[in-house]
Amino acid sequence: MDTGATGGTGAAGQPSSRSRDLAEIHEGMSLAQKKLSPKYFYDEHGSQLFEAICELPEYYPTRTEIGIMRDFLPEMARYIGPEANVIEFGIGSGLKTKLLLDALERPVAFIPVDISGEHLLETVEALRSDFPDLQMLPVATDFTRPFPVPETHAESRRNLVYFPGSTIGNFEPEAAIDLLRVMYREAGEGGCLLIGADLQKDIEVLERAYNDSQGITARFNLNMLRRLNGEYGADFELDNFRHNAVYNPHDGRIEMHLVSEKDQQVSIGEHEYSLERNETICSEYSYKYTLPQFADMAAQAGFTVKKVWTDSKGWFSLQYCERR
Ligand code: TRP
Repeated sequence: MDTGATGGTGAAGQPSSRSRDLAEIHEGMSLAQKKLSPKYFYDEHGSQLFEAICELPEYYPTRTEIGIMRDFLPEMARYIGPEANVIEFGIGSGLKTKLLLDALERPVAFIPVDISGEHLLETVEALRSDFPDLQMLPVATDFTRPFPVPETHAESRRNLVYFPGSTIGNFEPEAAIDLLRVMYREAGEGGCLLIGADLQKDIEVLERAYNDSQGITARFNLNMLRRLNGEYGADFELDNFRHNAVYNPHDGRIEMHLVSEKDQQVSIGEHEYSLERNETICSEYSYKYTLPQFADMAAQAGFTVKKVWTDSKGWFSLQYCERR
């Protein structure tokens, strides 16, 4: 999935949201620890770079999650049961969706939800030929806020909310619980949730995954500045910044930073900001969970974790949850 990520993808650029974006950018750049929203990662170029990240030998999450699906999909399908509506939060390359829909018994409807309407329709079109009998009901909206689930032709037995890729880890704990509460609501009575969650592991493995040797991760992170230059009137000198990802053991998260290589001034729209040498702009967090931590978060949103599937190294998990 992944590219659908981060709860705000693609909102940038539309005239109505531009001034709101600029205000939010200004707010983030005025903090002691400067911050930019991860939603600026995913323009056309950024989405391509993210797909390249998913292929990197160091970037274990995507590959590991797909491996878990290939190993356990029949069992997952038994937990979910026949004739479900599949409500996917965010959309990515479509591969995981295809694997899941293939494994399920007579799914009734596929309801992908993403803020980028264009990306949504492309994905639906690509899936249509594989699943000609499945009703497709894309919903173009910000999935962090409750939305009405469209009516389906045929009756379904339950809703499955599907949220692969550990995008949940890109939300800070309170926001992650809020998002799980939206999922609880959209799952409806008797509904369930299948969600990816990345797990805590060796710091070296984590930091390597986010600082790859080919520098693709760095290009992905720096692309955010390029985009601010092009779309928001910023004047970032890309050569004056470098990417760095560090694991913060206290908060259990990888932190993505853009490090200023010298004392410099940048302007965005009508505002100017000073950066000292080695000062950073934080662009994303990626939380890594223990199983009890994740179960606790799910419980705070009303879900009980009924089954956890992991890979042999215990690096990544897919979790099946039911409404309590
Ligand atoms: N959502 C992805 C993750 O948490 C984003 C990501 C992967 C990323 N690699 C990155 C963000 C490098 C910034 C820099 O895994």
